[in-house]
Amino acid sequence: MSDLYSRRKTLEKILQAVAPIMLEGFTLTPGIDVNRKSLLSTESKSGPKDLVTLFDKKVEAALLEHFAREFPGEVALGEETISASKKHPESVLFEHKSHGLWIFDPIDGTTNYAKAYPFFCVTAAYLAWNTQENLFEPLIGATLNPVSGELFAAHKGGGAWLGNTQIRINPDVSDPQKALFITGFASERSQSGNKSFELFKNITKESLGVRRDGSAALDLAYVAAGRVEGYWEWGLAPWDIASGALLVKEAGGVISRLNGDTLQLGQGDILASTPRLHKWLLSRIEVTGNESA
Ligand code: IPD
Ligand code: CA
Repeated sequence: MSDLYSRRKTLEKILQAVAPIMLEGFTLTPGIDVNRKSLLSTESKSGPKDLVTLFDKKVEAALLEHFAREFPGEVALGEETISASKKHPESVLFEHKSHGLWIFDPIDGTTNYAKAYPFFCVTAAYLAWNTQENLFEPLIGATLNPVSGELFAAHKGGGAWLGNTQIRINPDVSDPQKALFITGFASERSQSGNKSFELFKNITKESLGVRRDGSAALDLAYVAAGRVEGYWEWGLAPWDIASGALLVKEAGGVISRLNGDTLQLGQGDILASTPRLHKWLLSRIEVTGNESA
């Protein structure tokens, strides 16, 4: 049993352990669930559409305890801790270049969580500095949707998994008209810029459709599972995409930046797709323009 495999299994257990906390603040019928209103207050972070709830903080605190217990002496950092430090996420990663670190998002898809739309997750990854490629590389990743119970996980060289089933990207579709995609728009909408909306419109016209589901980590897991053929977005944070980038790679997909360069987790833009549609997507992005504002 490889060390990465056993560390991945421990990570999976950690995510499963915090799922009940996430569900405490959640209901599928918010209109009639009066208790939830007092339970769930939201605050804004970087802008009015960048929300945080009491449960983002509760889950973050629980995760920090679990990481400290299961991986003593290792660095584990969550979105809420990093955001509160006001440091740029990339500079925070660089502080840990020499020894690697765990990064996690206690709730990815907070807007969905706050609105009772059951598409959100807890996601975490172990990152190590790759000296040959000069970048942070995810070696272990896991993403759990506590409502559906779906647990997506991968470690480098070990394939991508949904529970006990190995998953693959969908290798069959080469015609964009038969492909389904997902995208997202940065929570601070001004960061998305018109290019995101133009691209959404253009690819919607030229494909089977483009979904916008509101959790980058689950969107990437859906590419890995072969449910959609591709996903792109600007303005993301490393914890949104680290686990999903590894899942897509281990499931046989291709990941890059939106200009086709090698993915850099701290840069915030990502294109993930099946090998057959990657070039086509890059060409559509180039025609539309690939800047974030
Ligand atoms: C958000 C989600 C969403 C993406 C936003 C992210 P959060 O993360 O991943 O899909 O479009 O850019 O900020 O705020 O819910 O953790
Ligand atoms: Ca979050």
